[in-house]
Amino acid sequence: MFPRHFFKVRISLKVPLEPFQLINQNSAILHFGYNTVRFGYDHAFVTSQICITQKESNMKTILITGASAGLGKATAKLFQAKGWNVIATMRSPEKETELNQLTNLTLLPLDITNSEQIVKTVQAALESGDIDVVFNNAGYGLIGPVESHTEEQIRAQFDTNFFGNLAVIRAFIPYFRQRNKGLFINTTSLCGLVSNPQSAIYNASKWAMQGLAESLSYDLAQFNIGIKNVAPGGIKSDFMKAMQVTEDKAYEATVAKMTEGFQDGTLMEFTDAEKIAEVVYQAATDEKDQLTYPAGNDAVRLYAKRLAEGPEAYRIGLTKYLNLQRPYPQA
Ligand SMILES: NC(=O)c1ccc[n+]([C@@H]2O[C@H](COP(=O)([O-])OP(=O)(O)OC[C@H]3O[C@@H](n4cnc5c(N)ncnc54)[C@H](OP(=O)(O)O)[C@@H]3O)[C@@H](O)[C@H]2O)c1
Repeated sequence: MFPRHFFKVRISLKVPLEPFQLINQNSAILHFGYNTVRFGYDHAFVTSQICITQKESNMKTILITGASAGLGKATAKLFQAKGWNVIATMRSPEKETELNQLTNLTLLPLDITNSEQIVKTVQAALESGDIDVVFNNAGYGLIGPVESHTEEQIRAQFDTNFFGNLAVIRAFIPYFRQRNKGLFINTTSLCGLVSNPQSAIYNASKWAMQGLAESLSYDLAQFNIGIKNVAPGGIKSDFMKAMQVTEDKAYEATVAKMTEGFQDGTLMEFTDAEKIAEVVYQAATDEKDQLTYPAGNDAVRLYAKRLAEGPEAYRIGLTKYLNLQRPYPQA
């Protein structure tokens, strides 16, 4: 098998003329699949490209899920800018107009709830070269009282946020074991380290990922495979647009107080996705044996508060902050 960059050059020389788009007399763009490759017509340019690709074959490669938006896209851009090969996977790569302009970045289709597609995409990714880091980032939120969700909504939340990520991890473990190295990074959440009201199913899916990764860290260590969780607080992203919200009037007062806490920063601050991507880069490169990376001021602050106070005192403190009635004698 050719290294990833030879693969690109090889394809560019073999395809028929239709996908070529002439830029000027020396260079053109080649469209294949969801990807765009810039290349030169003249022999010197192609030769120099091949020389560069030989040097670039030492580059590391990250595969990212949910790279169409928010943290996934910011991470794809950061790693590409830092000189990594990036395999950016997303549900609709045909709609992507920004990442497909970048060199050393390949788009592949992946809905993490589609087991057949996981097999095909992992195979396609590995055929193009080695993969060093798998970043399990795809996810969305389901918010509201549990009794107002449908069972379908609850199962779908776990299908993506837990079972989807688990399926991608399972697809890569044999490859990482055979290679005797590899790193999984998962986007969990501050909501997988402390829980808020009105998000029980989302919180449960992220706590499940936290527990999964902690247990797997023991099992994978002997094969030189790492697993880390980046746990962001609020991120400025499309998350709120994609979020599913169900309501029940009985919880109006709680929702109002929580909205206040989100707006004044008590419960959450909203950090640029690019800043959170830097924490993903740190986790990928710091060589530290560390499971959890709270990301963003809010995540660092509130996780530290919970650890300092202990989980029971933290929970009672949040109950009081939200002015909630308690079913036990008030202390
Ligand atoms: N935003 C926050 O405040 C926040 C806080 C803590 C943790 N997080 C976590 O951060 C991660 C990224 O979220 P974000 O804030 O960047 O939100 P975002 O802008 O909505 O991005 C979410 C990404 O996940 C993808 N996705 C959703 N379901 C998928 C599936 N079944 N298969 C493949 N891709 C799927 C979306 O793809 P499409 O474009 O196809 O929909 C999109 O690319 C999520 O795991 C989220 O739970 C977010």
